[in-house]
Amino acid sequence: MWLPCGCTSKYVASSFARRILASHLHVSGRSRCNVAAFMPEAAGFEGVSGRAALRELSVSNSESFWAAVARHRLSWSIPFHTVQDCDLSRGKIKWFEGGKLNVSVNCLDRHVHTCPERVALIWERDERGWCCTDELLEMTCRVGNLLRRHGVKRGDCVTIYMPTCPLAVASMLACARIGAAHNVVFAGFSADALAERIRDAQSSTVITVNQGVRGGKVIELKKTVDTAVESCPTVKQVFVAMRTDNPVTMTARDIAMEEVREQKEMLKEDVVCEPAVMNSEDVLFLLYTSGSTGKPKGLVHTQAGYLLYAALTHRYVFSYHDGDVFGCVADIGWITGHSYVVYGPLANGATTVLFESTPIYPDPGRYWDMVERLKINQFYGAPTAIRLLLKYGDQWVNKYDRSTLKTLGSVGEPINTEAWEWYHRVVGDGRCPVVDTWWQTETGGICIAPRPSDPDAEIVPGMAMRPFFGIKPVLIDTEGELLTSNNTSGALCMAQPWPGMARTIHNNHQRFIETYFQPYPGYFFTGDGAYRSEEGYYQITGRLDDVINVSGHRIGTAEIEDVVNQCPAVAESAVIGYTHSIKGQGVYAFVVLKKGIDVKEADLSRQLNGMVSEKIAKYASPDFIQFAQRLPKTRSGKIMRRVLRKVVESDLEGLGDLSTLDDPAAVQEIIQGRRCHV
Ligand code: PRX
Repeated sequence: MWLPCGCTSKYVASSFARRILASHLHVSGRSRCNVAAFMPEAAGFEGVSGRAALRELSVSNSESFWAAVARHRLSWSIPFHTVQDCDLSRGKIKWFEGGKLNVSVNCLDRHVHTCPERVALIWERDERGWCCTDELLEMTCRVGNLLRRHGVKRGDCVTIYMPTCPLAVASMLACARIGAAHNVVFAGFSADALAERIRDAQSSTVITVNQGVRGGKVIELKKTVDTAVESCPTVKQVFVAMRTDNPVTMTARDIAMEEVREQKEMLKEDVVCEPAVMNSEDVLFLLYTSGSTGKPKGLVHTQAGYLLYAALTHRYVFSYHDGDVFGCVADIGWITGHSYVVYGPLANGATTVLFESTPIYPDPGRYWDMVERLKINQFYGAPTAIRLLLKYGDQWVNKYDRSTLKTLGSVGEPINTEAWEWYHRVVGDGRCPVVDTWWQTETGGICIAPRPSDPDAEIVPGMAMRPFFGIKPVLIDTEGELLTSNNTSGALCMAQPWPGMARTIHNNHQRFIETYFQPYPGYFFTGDGAYRSEEGYYQITGRLDDVINVSGHRIGTAEIEDVVNQCPAVAESAVIGYTHSIKGQGVYAFVVLKKGIDVKEADLSRQLNGMVSEKIAKYASPDFIQFAQRLPKTRSGKIMRRVLRKVVESDLEGLGDLSTLDDPAAVQEIIQGRRCHV
């Protein structure tokens, strides 16, 4: 199933929805704008004469806006009767109630009548060169039937621990088809991290592959699953696909998915799988992400609102046109992979690229070689990769033809001016706009981006710029006051709900309310700070909590401390992020040992790094560990992280008020013991 090269997964004919997708007409020139031509779903808004007016209306009359868009963009089995029923103060968010639909039908079946020959997935394998599997709809149906036959029911949660590959996408869509929720766990997470997520999600089914391959290295994913499920009593079955030719030990719990294996499980299955008719607010997936405290939280996204928002942002933020090849290089294990590799592009009938490799394998020309070969029109990646590639020089870019590129996207962390300029000037030949998109696992899709409504609008380098349709960002100061003027900074909040936002934290609605809705009552708090310029443009200034962003991967410092503190030699620790030239942020750990411990610091550092890799993931492992006699604390015993951050950033002038410190000498000790990271 994995092997034939040079083919692709197509949308394929079926008897479901017969809607014709309205084609998206490109209109240039602001003054001549006709909103119906720009956005067909807005055709019913008489009297709205321009894109700015349409944006206004999407906020001031968001119900009408979202109702029109939802009717136009999604195929419904039964239309919704209530557009929204939301109360931000209680963390209550419901959209399109009464409506029934199936997400996989919206992503696959309905396109086969309008564009049956259009390629749905192009899989850019680690080995270089693109490749495919069966037809995507057929594959989805086979997996759906396989899951059903093995007892997976509507409402169950299936954990997917796979590399970015067609079978992973088919597994996600198969869950959607039969009404099960999926819980995709990034295949770089350790057995412990995987087990924690399986347990919290109460999954009885896991789907994985024998081995992964990334950057030429084999990764033992099945072995990781074996270790993880030992501590997951809920798991009854593990489906195993073959990504490499190497056999793995199968246990009584394991079921081989591939036709190359004796059971031929997948081939037995029918290529027609009756789609479950789902309510708009049924769960589509859980996706775990880090917060500032406690364990990772399983954010819950539901069917209609999420899909609609992913599709609409995919179309308008990137100026996607029917027939374009969309290349988002994110892993499917993160929200970017969910929204802009899988759901957004497929809902729009796009050709979407699955990128399994790394930006520098086998060499730093990998991305641009792929752009040339696959004729990619929109390229969407992370600043950390751009910063890395910039250092290798322009020749790796210039070697390849990038004339198909139209839009370049950036996501996950701030993009510094140097990286932005290089991306625009070298990769985009100075002609492709760079869209710096701000959003989160919680928001479901892009909320702030340079050109959501106007493909010709001005872009300021390094700024996320403008809110998307229906999004109303506000800034709030430390006193909780709304900041109404421009040229100001504050906590970034959203003043009204939108269909793509997360609905709850799995099994913990109280934590959902406390994290997002209690800090600023009546608003959704993003956890980020932002600056609003004189012109009203937004720039993200970074997290306001103890979440850090390492190579675009979000991690709570408390999670790393938790692991470090499990070492018997450690009395306490404090982990902070510091500015890293490639990764965006690096991990710096202060560690206080128990009295009387006599170990070599180098040995203990290695041990602690190993523990973090093993219990969380490699990327969370500290870049620097500083052993200290004590940590600077307030008189009430709270670690002064602000001081630690300043010390690590070598900003000794900016240490600020130290009068509340219990013992000021602790700061001097910390300064003297600083590890160099510049
Ligand atoms: O701090 C913001 C940062 O990434 C966080 C969200 O992380 P996650 O849920 O993993 O989703 C990442 C992919 C959407 C945000 O709270 N972030 C995301 N995009 C940007 C950003 N920071 C600055 N600029 C961005 N464009």
